[in-house]
Amino acid sequence: FEVEHVSLAKKADLFMVAPATADIAAKLAYGICDDMLTTTFLACECPKYVVPSMNTRMYNNPVTQDNLNRLSQYGVHVIRPESGYLACGDTGTGKMPEPEVLFGYIEREIARPKDMKGKHVIVTAGATQESMDPVRFITNHSTGKMGFALARECVLRGADVCIVKASVSAEVPGFCTVVEALSAGAMYEEVMRRASLADYIFMAAAVADYTPAVKADHKIKKKDGDLSIDLSRTKDILKDLGLNRTDNQFLCGFSMETENLEENSRAKLIRKNVDMIVANNLKDPGAGFGTDTNLVTLITKKGSTHLPLLSKEDTAKAIVDAALAR
Ligand code: CTP
Repeated sequence: FEVEHVSLAKKADLFMVAPATADIAAKLAYGICDDMLTTTFLACECPKYVVPSMNTRMYNNPVTQDNLNRLSQYGVHVIRPESGYLACGDTGTGKMPEPEVLFGYIEREIARPKDMKGKHVIVTAGATQESMDPVRFITNHSTGKMGFALARECVLRGADVCIVKASVSAEVPGFCTVVEALSAGAMYEEVMRRASLADYIFMAAAVADYTPAVKADHKIKKKDGDLSIDLSRTKDILKDLGLNRTDNQFLCGFSMETENLEENSRAKLIRKNVDMIVANNLKDPGAGFGTDTNLVTLITKKGSTHLPLLSKEDTAKAIVDAALAR
């Protein structure tokens, strides 16, 4: 014999009420059970989310606010509404976030075991821009996709993730702290400032090795004949991380090669004193910049693992699995 609302409650991994009216929020806050929804909610022991969506005046009413705060105190996650055009014709706070946004919360809660809970992660992503004058810079083709996939994977596993991003065209993942660092020099500062607190650092950004020696204050005007500009070396972030690393820190670098992939990448692993190099051969179809897939070899002191052609999401999963299995 099964009581319907209890058996349903036992099966659930997560319970989200979206949209939650003022009436439902009030009932849930006080344990009133007079229908299937409210009885099941009370019987559920899984993570619970309430997404209040209603008219602005109803939402702002202290009674509603008290009810929502009361739900928070009981451990229910309250996803606050957005501002916008509401069903009643008014414009203001009370709009339910888009279903994709709500799905993001569900995914974060249940998509993966939380094997990175409490861990601090830094992921760098994108292409640095090295200015030569106020209008021009030297950059590369990195879009940020691989770094973002890694950040997202770590978020799903419960980590606290900071993305240090240069120029990107991919969409920044949710639930991360995002710090902008456009040039190699700025990225050096932002990463070093945070490094000592990080358990894992994934240097997925394509950082310039050289920057214009002089950054002109004014636009460089053309003249007859050719122009050459002097470049100076940037500071190698990963190498300095390797020099100053703490014992339990995991450092992961990336390597793009067009020849002698393993040999060059292994040399990088040793030279920069890091735990893993994710190497990809730019000549392989489906690998490298801008694609949704990647074809990489994971290089550690123990050996090399060739991964098949995978989506960047699955590549990220394999990289994080390898980092955790260290
Ligand atoms: N990197 C860095 N700081 C730099 C340059 C690169 O931290 N100033 C990091 C990148 O984020 C990446 C790795 O180092 O994780 C790449 O190493 P690098 O020696 O720059 O490799 P490539 O440029 O691919 O190799 P090479 O110049 O030796 O061909």
